[in-house]
Amino acid sequence: MRKKLVVANWKMNGTSADIGAMLTAMQKDSVILNQIDVSVCVPAVFLSNMHAACGPLPISWGAQNVSDKAAGAFTGEISAQMLCDVGCSTVIVGHSERRLYYGENNHWVAQKWLATRKTALTPILCVGESLSEREKGQTLAVVMAQLDAVLKITTAKEFAHTVIAYEPVWAIGTGLTPTTNEVVSVHTALREHLVKQYDSATSQTVRLLYGGSVKGDNAAQLLTLANVDGGLIGGASLKYDTFSPIYKALI
Ligand code: 13P
Repeated sequence: MRKKLVVANWKMNGTSADIGAMLTAMQKDSVILNQIDVSVCVPAVFLSNMHAACGPLPISWGAQNVSDKAAGAFTGEISAQMLCDVGCSTVIVGHSERRLYYGENNHWVAQKWLATRKTALTPILCVGESLSEREKGQTLAVVMAQLDAVLKITTAKEFAHTVIAYEPVWAIGTGLTPTTNEVVSVHTALREHLVKQYDSATSQTVRLLYGGSVKGDNAAQLLTLANVDGGLIGGASLKYDTFSPIYKALI
């Protein structure tokens, strides 16, 4: 049985005080947080504070991006090893905003993903189609091409216990969500694809998250579907009052 996972993606929002306020409020939910996995992905400049800020909270933290390089003259980049050094457990790789605004293509995303596997970080590989791709019936082709770029350079052993987040681009920050049938159909296809590429045992270790306009009032519906192991949450993850109902809906 895969443990549910809820990941907060703060994107380029918030202050260290905002993070502290949310984590302090979350202390009262320790009993709940012990039953699921929660990881908070904050802007990189705040990561070195997270160990102290989380205190005894049973949660992990992570980054929103990582370099494909291990070290060297790559101004402004942050390596997977550096993220481990400041206590990160997770890292979001290939978010659609990075693909769209920073030119990350499938090949580059796959190299970043591979860099994380040389460390103890768990990558959260984001896949998802645009509205026009969905309208043209290309959803599965797009999502599988994004996944295949990684699968073709990795082994079943390296892929096991990682995370894939299905985030339809048109659902991010828009208040729109796919129907439950649409979510199940993509997630089931992802799981079956992993069985075909590797084997059933490997596929069963991979957690598949849904992301895109998840809120307290739709979390129970969207995040407990077949083959949905939790969620990747943007806007609603920025405040305790909007984030906590999401993880509480999974208990
Ligand atoms: P929203 O939850 O704000 O739609 O963002 C989803 C997302 O992009 C998480 O990575």
